[in-house]
Amino acid sequence: MLLLTFWAILAALCIQKGITASYRIDISSYNPLDDKTHTFHLFVNHFEQNSTELIVTSNATNTSGFYILQAHSFEYNVTLTGYGEVANNVTGRNVGLLQFFKNPLVNSFSLEKMTDKNLTVLIAVTIYEDKTPIPGGCAKVDSITGMKINPLIRVIDGEEIINIRAEAPSVEGLTCDMNDTETRVDIYHKYLSSQNFNPLIYYEGIRSMLSVEDIKKNGKFVSSSHSLLTLKKSFSSYIGVGEVFVILITQNGKTSAYVPAVSYGQDIEILIMKDKAGNASITQRILEMPRRG
Ligand SMILES: *[C@@H]1O[C@H](CO)[C@@H](O)[C@H](O)[C@H]1NC(C)=O
Ligand SMILES: *[C@@H]1O[C@H](CO)[C@@H](O)[C@H](O)[C@H]1NC(C)=O
Ligand SMILES: *[C@@H]1O[C@H](CO)[C@@H](O)[C@H](O)[C@H]1NC(C)=O
Ligand SMILES: *[C@@H]1O[C@H](CO)[C@@H](O)[C@H](O)[C@H]1NC(C)=O
Ligand SMILES: *[C@@H]1O[C@H](CO)[C@@H](O)[C@H](O)[C@H]1NC(C)=O
Ligand SMILES: *[C@@H]1O[C@H](CO)[C@@H](O)[C@H](O)[C@H]1NC(C)=O
Ligand SMILES: *[C@@H]1O[C@H](CO)[C@@H](O)[C@H](O)[C@H]1NC(C)=O
Ligand SMILES: *[C@@H]1O[C@H](CO)[C@@H](O)[C@H](O)[C@H]1NC(C)=O
Repeated sequence: MLLLTFWAILAALCIQKGITASYRIDISSYNPLDDKTHTFHLFVNHFEQNSTELIVTSNATNTSGFYILQAHSFEYNVTLTGYGEVANNVTGRNVGLLQFFKNPLVNSFSLEKMTDKNLTVLIAVTIYEDKTPIPGGCAKVDSITGMKINPLIRVIDGEEIINIRAEAPSVEGLTCDMNDTETRVDIYHKYLSSQNFNPLIYYEGIRSMLSVEDIKKNGKFVSSSHSLLTLKKSFSSYIGVGEVFVILITQNGKTSAYVPAVSYGQDIEILIMKDKAGNASITQRILEMPRRG
């Protein structure tokens, strides 16, 4: 029954959205002892097609734990949808879905764009071994998306302050209403650039803040606490300055990261528009300057 529903939905989706591209992300080489195998990433060019299929696979038979499939889009929202066991969807610019391992692994997702513009989207998989804290594992079930595990960081832009929020993690041996002095919440951030809206800087910024090792190396440590129930922090807002936010949860030496989120202090579409308008008016003024002669 469940399987039938899955194929029916998938078939309906293929017909409706005209899936033309499919990307396979093979994470077979994951090894908990080798930092370099804890994240995988690729760029998906979302041009003519509205919907792209993403398949996460592993032929390993000894893997336990979970992974987060992430999609990061610079300017426009994308929707990431999981099928079968990951029947869920999430929309935004920095999104992800969390899935537990089964051996061997074949999980199917689709990525849709909400615009007819051409997009390039950074797709990443971050992988964690068994008994690592689960980002957003104690989420209150979202009435709109029905998400039970929500590893996202929500960014609320403001003129003076940027607030970040995330749902509580679930931690080995604790119920969802407990704080724990043995578990640590660490917040990191990284500035990207000022008034420069080059997507390459954005993608490189996120790519450098995906794995726990890279976050500690490339990010700037902000604060540490043992308060698991309310994950939030305020930052000064510098409109037009790109900033990546990350939250790490550590218990018994095992650390996981929420899906990194980016803010420019204001809606990026508006900032890009202003930037273009600003440059155009500068060009215009140069053209209008009286020529010496
Ligand atoms: C699974 O086994 C392979 C081969 O023995 C090893 O290289 C790999 O690290 C193991 N993976 C895990 C998650 O233990
Ligand atoms: C989108 O990409 C396609 C394929 O590369 C190209 O033909 C088309 O002109 C592009 N459209 C826009 C709006 O850039
Ligand atoms: C698993 O996949 C990897 C990468 O594709 C490959 O190198 C390896 O030989 C495969 N192992 C098995 C047991 O199929
Ligand atoms: C993008 O997605 C976010 C989160 O779902 C939503 O709040 C926002 O309104 C969307 N923006 C647009 C332009 O659709
Ligand atoms: C793709 O998305 C654009 C913008 O939302 C829409 O105008 C277009 O009809 C869609 N195409 C298909 C094949 O769904
Ligand atoms: C996303 O999930 C919601 C709630 O489960 C559902 O109503 C909606 O149809 C889903 N959207 C897509 C594109 O699958
Ligand atoms: C958890 O810790 C936070 C911050 O120290 C505190 O505000 C909250 O009341 C604590 N909750 C419980 C149930 O201990
Ligand atoms: C506007 O000008 C600045 C400085 O010359 C440049 O870095 C930026 O890329 C320009 N923006 C656009 C949209 O052309």
